[in-house]
Amino acid sequence: MPIAAQQFPVVGGGQGRDVSPAIVAHMSVVYAEKAELCDHLEAIADSLPDQIDTMLCLRVAGRLVPLMRQAHRFEEELLFPLFEASAAAQQADATIGRLKSEHVYDECSAEEITEELLHIGHGHPIRNPEAFGFMLRAFFDPVRRHLAFERELLLIARQG
Ligand SMILES: [Fe+2]
Repeated sequence: MPIAAQQFPVVGGGQGRDVSPAIVAHMSVVYAEKAELCDHLEAIADSLPDQIDTMLCLRVAGRLVPLMRQAHRFEEELLFPLFEASAAAQQADATIGRLKSEHVYDECSAEEITEELLHIGHGHPIRNPEAFGFMLRAFFDPVRRHLAFERELLLIARQG
């Protein structure tokens, strides 16, 4: 059994719509941290090229990829099956397919951003501030939209 499912059992079984409070609480924490990381990335983008906080770069670099992977794994193992079981999910397959492909894209982007954040955080010159700013914005704006959508999904899964 996947680790996430062992830690966060779905209450009541049945159609899988009774979402454990532990799942909701965990997702709330993960989503809050994701939203905070997006805020940090926006602050970094706004501070380019001369006002960069190198400690912030290192802090975000250390958390970005692990958090994205953790959130995606949890969603794909628990949230999406709950959504699929929901009576409201008439187009669940297409929706989940889209979300999963966004996960893959976001993880690749997170790795590239992390590499640049480490480079900058360790005091090296920013290679191309304009391109890096664009890369950051092309990451955190879609991730915020993705996050908002999945928060709604969690509500749908809870309501069944
Ligand atoms: Fe997601």
